[in-house]
Amino acid sequence: MSQTCILPQSYFGTDRAQMESRIAAAKSRLGKRLVILGHHYQRDDVVKYADFTGDSFKLSQQAASRPDADYIIFCGVHFMAESADVLSAPHQRVILPDLAAGCSMADMAEIDQLEQAWSELEEVFDGTPPIIPITYMNSSAAIKAFCGERGGAVCTSSNAQAVFNWASARQEKILFLPDQHLGRNTGYSMGIPLDSMPVWDPYRHMGGNTAEAVIAAKVLLWKGHCSVHQRFTPEMVDQVRSKHPGIQVIVHPECTWEVVQKSDATGSTEKIIQVVRDASAGTSWAVGTELHLVNRLAEESAREGKLVISLEERGCLCSTMFRISPAHLLASLENLVEGRIVNQITVPEETAHWTRVALDRMLAIC
Ligand code: 13P
Ligand code: SF4
Repeated sequence: MSQTCILPQSYFGTDRAQMESRIAAAKSRLGKRLVILGHHYQRDDVVKYADFTGDSFKLSQQAASRPDADYIIFCGVHFMAESADVLSAPHQRVILPDLAAGCSMADMAEIDQLEQAWSELEEVFDGTPPIIPITYMNSSAAIKAFCGERGGAVCTSSNAQAVFNWASARQEKILFLPDQHLGRNTGYSMGIPLDSMPVWDPYRHMGGNTAEAVIAAKVLLWKGHCSVHQRFTPEMVDQVRSKHPGIQVIVHPECTWEVVQKSDATGSTEKIIQVVRDASAGTSWAVGTELHLVNRLAEESAREGKLVISLEERGCLCSTMFRISPAHLLASLENLVEGRIVNQITVPEETAHWTRVALDRMLAIC
């Protein structure tokens, strides 16, 4: 029986050494029945307990390929845990240690807004829009299900171009949601001009577009963004280059088009780590993504004679990823040891079916 809980007060007073030994003890009691997945933005004192780390794509593959584990503790955010629930086997339980770990970008696309947008598009195209809806992994299960039911798919930052290519081979236009920046950066890298990718504002009739603009569009970009990645600016790229001559700039594709254009490379969290790891000693890198990933990469790279700094001097924190603390992880583990499943994420089967279709399409494309 699943329960929801706020972290009990007793967990806050636990000192670090005690916390570590209790986490280790609970993990070993659960053994192979448990797998802990950790996103690259998790804090150091949490990610060190992960059995697997990765970007959204890699973690979704892990969730789909660990049927031995009865419990998947997802140290990440809500949409990732939902996808893990949909991709895992029916007997598996997915737990998000803090239910308040959401994603403000995912919240920028609500299912009733998408249904309204689609009915306006149906009006423009006499009932059958020549459009494939593609949603970024950073969206609710309901949005993913809507896309799956209408022939669309999910993508992540590591496979957006492959999914766009797949969609373009099947239909005239793409409706991409919720991240306008990932959509614009992907479309532009495939040669789609900026003026063929108008923004769809869900708070305005027809997204704020004329019927003519929608008919002429190749990609409609939902007006959503990541508040963490939007903090990186083109001026920061200029400043870091003048302060550190020869430095290379690598950013996440949730950054604005202007920032991506000024950078040397772009990629998912996993790709950023890989590119910097593969770089030669003596190179230096300014990284445009979340603080915890950048700090760990900086520490590791310093040992190999490479300089890694944040593109934003003080670093940009994802406050919802940060919500998962060692105390939350410990509480989840000890509840499982006691036979209580707390903070389970469950996608209702009527939504899960089409969500699975959209996710499976992505996994088959890439
Ligand atoms: P990745 O799939 O690149 O890890 O990105 C997830 C995310 O939320 C970035 O903000
Ligand atoms: Fe969401 Fe941005 Fe945080 Fe990623 S970094 S989880 S997109 S708020």
